[in-house]
Amino acid sequence: MSQKNQTLGEFIIENQTSFKYTSGELSRLINSIRLAAKVVNHEVNKAGLVDIIGAYGDTNIQGEEQQKLDVYANEKFIQTLTNRNIVCGIASEEEDDFITINSQDENNQNKYVVLIDPLDGSSNIDVNVSVGTIFSVYRRVTPIGTPVTIDDFLQKGNQQVAAGYIIYGTSTMLVYTTGVGVNGFTLNPAIGTFYLSHPDMKFPKDGKIYSVNEGNYIHFPQGIKDYIKYCQMEEGNRPYTSRYIGSLVSDFHRNMIKGGIYIYPSTSKNPNGKLRLLYECNPMAFIAEQANGKASDGFTRILDIQPTELHQRVPFICGSKSMVEKAEEFMQQVTVST
Ligand code: AHG
Ligand code: MN
Ligand code: MN
Repeated sequence: MSQKNQTLGEFIIENQTSFKYTSGELSRLINSIRLAAKVVNHEVNKAGLVDIIGAYGDTNIQGEEQQKLDVYANEKFIQTLTNRNIVCGIASEEEDDFITINSQDENNQNKYVVLIDPLDGSSNIDVNVSVGTIFSVYRRVTPIGTPVTIDDFLQKGNQQVAAGYIIYGTSTMLVYTTGVGVNGFTLNPAIGTFYLSHPDMKFPKDGKIYSVNEGNYIHFPQGIKDYIKYCQMEEGNRPYTSRYIGSLVSDFHRNMIKGGIYIYPSTSKNPNGKLRLLYECNPMAFIAEQANGKASDGFTRILDIQPTELHQRVPFICGSKSMVEKAEEFMQQVTVST
């Protein structure tokens, strides 16, 4: 039985057998992520002291300016997963293509691929606001012992075996699921250990917070505009409160604890929205569903979307179930009436 204040290490061992493909491999993988999280946390925490703030001087494949910490976090997660020889492939928001691990080594019997957003919310680094890391884990679909292919990465989100995020906030937390609920662990920085602080996390069914970048309002689809007006209307438990940090991890984390909805819709400039299906939306959707929440693009369950490319973007509506359903209703009403 998991207990509050149990260490993450103890929790992983104790819960290993509840995972349907138990072999210890996934436990080792989560352990490596725990280690990389501590290393990145250490660097994030001294961001104001060392020369780690600011732009790296390059752009990623999606044309976004990379920050020094984006590059640092990317290297650390890839290094940790590669050195310990526990995965067969990695895809990252900051890499043009996926990385094949030990393709020459027939002894690489690893079955898992990992997809990461190494640093989420990186525009917040310079101003000392919470950022995060998001990860997603799949079993490979190609034969074990052969080099991974794109098919191993372009799997529907409903095939994920684990997903989680680290939030580098007022305290650092690691929150993850292996498909049997969601648990949150808080880092005690004095001794470098994560403790179970938030067992069995659940979204309240309904909430009062909506999180959307309203600066883009005029570019939103009519359904989202209508939903935002609904949030602001004086009726029942409305108007809702607007809260938008600008790091998905932080906005999601708050909404899961307090009840709320996060929206990054399509805009006339970005018809598929901004968030990446594989590195951001799928892992957050898996966690949301495991916590009784919901995630959709307005019409389709995020986890049922068939990815067609690594850096694909999708509109994203995620949070408390009743709120997401209401937003979907508005989206679908407009489609019917036009
Ligand atoms: P990233 O830093 O990994 O590129 O992600 C930023 C994402 C997400 O975390 C956040 O919610 C959203 O971009 C903010 O976008 P806007 O500044 O357009 O609101
Ligand atoms: Mn991100
Ligand atoms: Mn990022």
